[in-house]
Amino acid sequence: MIELAEEKSGEFQAQFVFEKDPKIAAWGREIERAFSGAYRKSFYVPGDRKSVLLVGCGDGAALEILKVRELAAFAARTLKELGIGRCCLDIGPLTERLGEASLIQIVLGLMLGTYEYQARCGEPGQDSRIHPAEWKNPGQEQQVCYQLYGAGAGRESRELVDEARELARDLMFVRDMVNTPGNLLRPMDFCRAIQQYLKDTRVEAEVISYEQLKFLGLSGLSGIGGSSEFPPCLLVLRYRGRPGAQENIGLIGKGVTCDTGGYCLKAAKSMAGIKGDMAGAAAVAGAVHGAAARGLKVNLTAVLPLCENRISPSSHLPGDVIFCGGKTVEIVNTDAEGRLILADAISYGIEKEKITHVLDIATLTGAVWQALGYTIGGSMSDDEAFYRMFERGLASCGERYLRFPFGEEHEKMIKSDVADLKNVGEDCCGVITAGLFLRHFAKGLPWIHLDIAGTAWNKTPLYAFDSKGATGAGALSLYYFLKEAEGLL
Ligand code: BES
Ligand code: MN
Ligand code: ZN
Repeated sequence: MIELAEEKSGEFQAQFVFEKDPKIAAWGREIERAFSGAYRKSFYVPGDRKSVLLVGCGDGAALEILKVRELAAFAARTLKELGIGRCCLDIGPLTERLGEASLIQIVLGLMLGTYEYQARCGEPGQDSRIHPAEWKNPGQEQQVCYQLYGAGAGRESRELVDEARELARDLMFVRDMVNTPGNLLRPMDFCRAIQQYLKDTRVEAEVISYEQLKFLGLSGLSGIGGSSEFPPCLLVLRYRGRPGAQENIGLIGKGVTCDTGGYCLKAAKSMAGIKGDMAGAAAVAGAVHGAAARGLKVNLTAVLPLCENRISPSSHLPGDVIFCGGKTVEIVNTDAEGRLILADAISYGIEKEKITHVLDIATLTGAVWQALGYTIGGSMSDDEAFYRMFERGLASCGERYLRFPFGEEHEKMIKSDVADLKNVGEDCCGVITAGLFLRHFAKGLPWIHLDIAGTAWNKTPLYAFDSKGATGAGALSLYYFLKEAEGLL
């Protein structure tokens, strides 16, 4: 729990301290010898009536938002290790240097710093899938109760704290979904979990069933999803925060709850993490929740194709030609399934839901991971004003994307001899050809594409606010983009 306090009270206090702070010398020789205020170094001063944890912030140079989040997460972890259940935290030193932006980062760091996925497994002989009601309050209960005081913790900061708490919860929901094993989160489980999570908001949900998908001719999604005993669906979420306006932002997220590759089966060592191939859809769900909970003044429609990609007698085979998203597509590789289900979802959004802007997000290519690794996502766009809005939002959340260029030479790579398009390009340019494939279905509307295949997941967390496994990548980028779009789109 996190609340604002007028002044410090209680037995335990934590204090952010910069290097060369004259206070350090004033605390006496012993502390001065043990604690210099260096970045991410702490010193605990136990006492009879009050104990203080000093958290070093470094010299303050290049202290950007991620470093503030990191310091708060580091403090949270240290307090948890010390077994402290309630702590008063002086945030003044940070807010004085970085302004109100740092308050959001502090709350995010405190809440995410001690996040851990609660591992679950199925009971033998029972339905091992988890009832979605469990996801009402994602993440574990906050164990430490924080009272923030000092400069920047006045009553006027109430709204910022509420917003940050909301975002932290949304991120924990995204991480929980992505961390959940594939056998416990089938497409329909995922669909129900999202609906459950959105229950208290003004978001309207509609589920297009497998039968309907076949009837409607969404054959990318029904064909791939039909490879599994656990059926696919299309989840549509509508939120109208700006009822009078024509604009309707389409958020399209890839939701493959398990990607074996199909007949172009993945090698055993590439199978690690295949349960996380729904991180795009999870990020969209988190951002939609955030937007609705905070009442952002935007209209948006999320279209989430949810399915598994497996081997079955009916699975696609290389060489098959399907009609998908209004075009014929030659399937060259059954492991390039994401773009097929996204093509259907984008087309559905434009035709049936009248979206006016397209933003798709997906764990789409291994190539983006090879190019940029775990910390930077890939992006593409064909609309400068739309992309600038997205980019402005990034400054508030610290996520990074490299925008890939594209041209006619890349278009040629996905031309097919037997269909309008093929689902794989050449040996090079894997990020670009995957993105360009999707652009064909955006029908000239302003389009942004985000490839989070590298950033959705980490093996070794880089920061204290990260945990092993799911990162929640994309959710904050989308939320802050929607905030930038308020009143404009
Ligand atoms: N979901 C994968 C992409 C992926 C790879 C995500 C590694 C996370 C880690 C996607 O469906 C896929 O298999 N893409 C293929 C495309 C190729 C066949 C053109 C890939 O990147 O290898
Ligand atoms: Mn695949
Ligand atoms: Zn995939």
